[in-house]
Amino acid sequence: MSMKKISKEQPNTFEFNKKNLETAKKVISNYPEDRQQSAVMSLLYLAQRQNDNWIPLVAMKYIAKFLDMPYIKVYEVATFYTMYNLAPVGKYFFQVCTTTPCMIRGAYKLVDVCKKKISENESQISKDGKSSWMEVECLGACVNAPMLQINDDYFEDLDSEKLEKIIDKINKNETPKPGSYRGRTNSEPENTRKTLLGNKNA
Ligand code: FES
Repeated sequence: MSMKKISKEQPNTFEFNKKNLETAKKVISNYPEDRQQSAVMSLLYLAQRQNDNWIPLVAMKYIAKFLDMPYIKVYEVATFYTMYNLAPVGKYFFQVCTTTPCMIRGAYKLVDVCKKKISENESQISKDGKSSWMEVECLGACVNAPMLQINDDYFEDLDSEKLEKIIDKINKNETPKPGSYRGRTNSEPENTRKTLLGNKNA
């Protein structure tokens, strides 16, 4: 796993837009009084969504004030969890799972495609500014390994060729279809179902 990259270039200001301000207040109201700090992860996530999928330091300071907690505590949370990006990412953000089940099914071939077609190094934005990629730990779709996540969608049962086609589509401003690339419905067995066939209630 790579170290968290914190952007050297940082904006000077951040505040929630109207919609996120309302959402933040609603999230906080889910917790007992004086326990508003429990909302820190949700608020970091909101800040990331609002700011092109990365969290600047000034947003952590803003959230610290918002929740009446020390900035260092917000910083600790933001730097600990891999789902928070602390530097700009591409508009299309590829997260390639390289944990064991995906690894033994060819995840590093997918990493090679990302290196070839997006950028040589992870967390580096492609020359056209469109995409970036990084390795991540298990995304919970091991049955459909190898797989990766692009923004909010999972792309599964991949190989090098299939990933190249997905990236080509994105580069042509088309939207690739998420899900299994071997035509499976969700995570059904590969060569049709073999169990519980005689049970009417199955
Ligand atoms: S190991 Fe890749 S999704 Fe679980």
